[in-house]
Amino acid sequence: MDSIKIRGGNPLRGEVTISGAKNSALKLMVATLLTGEKLTFTRMPDLADTRFLSTLLEHLGADITRNGSEMTLQTASLSSAEAPYDLVRKMRASFNVLGPLLARNGEARVSLPGGCAIGARPVDLHLKALESLGAGIELADGYVEARAKNGLVGAQIVFPFVSVGATEHAMLAAVLAKGETVLENAAREPEIQDLANCLNAMGAKISGAGSATITIEGVDHLTGASHAVVPDRIETGTYALAAATAGGDVLLRDAVWKHNSALWDLMIAAGASVSEENEGVRIKASGGRLRATDMETRPYPGFPTDEQAQFMAAMCVAEGRSVIRETIFENRFMHAPELMRMGARIDLRGNEAVVTGVEKLRGAPVMATDLRASVSLVIAGLVATGETTIGRVYHLDRGFEHLEAKLAGCGADIERIKE
Ligand code: EPZ
Repeated sequence: MDSIKIRGGNPLRGEVTISGAKNSALKLMVATLLTGEKLTFTRMPDLADTRFLSTLLEHLGADITRNGSEMTLQTASLSSAEAPYDLVRKMRASFNVLGPLLARNGEARVSLPGGCAIGARPVDLHLKALESLGAGIELADGYVEARAKNGLVGAQIVFPFVSVGATEHAMLAAVLAKGETVLENAAREPEIQDLANCLNAMGAKISGAGSATITIEGVDHLTGASHAVVPDRIETGTYALAAATAGGDVLLRDAVWKHNSALWDLMIAAGASVSEENEGVRIKASGGRLRATDMETRPYPGFPTDEQAQFMAAMCVAEGRSVIRETIFENRFMHAPELMRMGARIDLRGNEAVVTGVEKLRGAPVMATDLRASVSLVIAGLVATGETTIGRVYHLDRGFEHLEAKLAGCGADIERIKE
């Protein structure tokens, strides 16, 4: 298994071009199941997760080609309406094929995704949304069997709490339903808007994406389209925190300022210099330590749970004590024990982590159990004295395109050790 070796202490200077957002790309690719025509995506990141989803979509009948950061997908006809366990369990986003398969085929059988390292992550809201649209749902042998022989029918769906995946899934199913669907208490993440923009370019009639109420007027059929994937706000936040922690001056090219407002507010409160420029966002570190700042994760536009681990790594070397509260997932502090092995002082109390900043972290062999946790160890390694080796690099490969090259391009001493 590959690992990443970092010798810490170098400031980051230069620029990093932000890739397309993984969490948008995965839902956009699924849209191929809604049309027989060709979809072309630019700024499509090349990640383990996008490759994995390609395998599932090919199994379902998609023809997929990639040329650099451009991907085309065409599902002239479905070759199967069943997503087997092996192609769903490794990546939860695969479950989102259910709604589009149902909308196009009238029935579908998709494996339940199961739990994951950051919590139980049920799919009850996804299933309730599809039932509201008229689908008959049965659970058998670990699979969801869904039927809507006469097509899906528009409905009012009120989510009891905000779910990114369920909002996207409902949109992907409702675009081809008969009549109007209204989603209340919908997620407002930029990825939702990106999906709505792409579906509208395909001929859908979606309004209100980005607000808590989304209205979808069903259409008979969708066409092909070209769409640029939105720049990854989580990758942006990760490199911003890396630069503010390790020191230096980095331009995050193509980063969208307004997609990370909650992070910028906290970074500025912590003493970092962050500014919007024509080409993206610039982070200039003062050279001194950041000030400890409290943080709580929230659905967008609040602070993203996917940047919590990276923020914690930054707070490990800040001056003072910060309280970090995770409100989205019940088990998302697995990076804390690994950061402690590098000398961090973290006290875990349920969904709160109290971090007392130390002057220096020390390099160590570490490993993490999910994508964002792993990259927090990279940030810690960049600022630690000595050498840090991060195992289980496949987690990083799921969601960070060219991570070592991007950091090395800014002066980090980082390399991948192939095994
Ligand atoms: C998306 O997951 C992202 N994944 C996650 O990023 C991200 O952390 C999360 O949104 C929150 O922003 C993708 O987009 C592929 P949710 P998703 O439905 O859609 C509970 C990463 O590292 N819930 O908004 O699965 C759920 O357990 C990943 O890139 C139900 O109870 O998240 C959680 O506590 C990790 N029932 C909360 O809602 C449901 O049916 C929010 O989850 C659905 C969700």
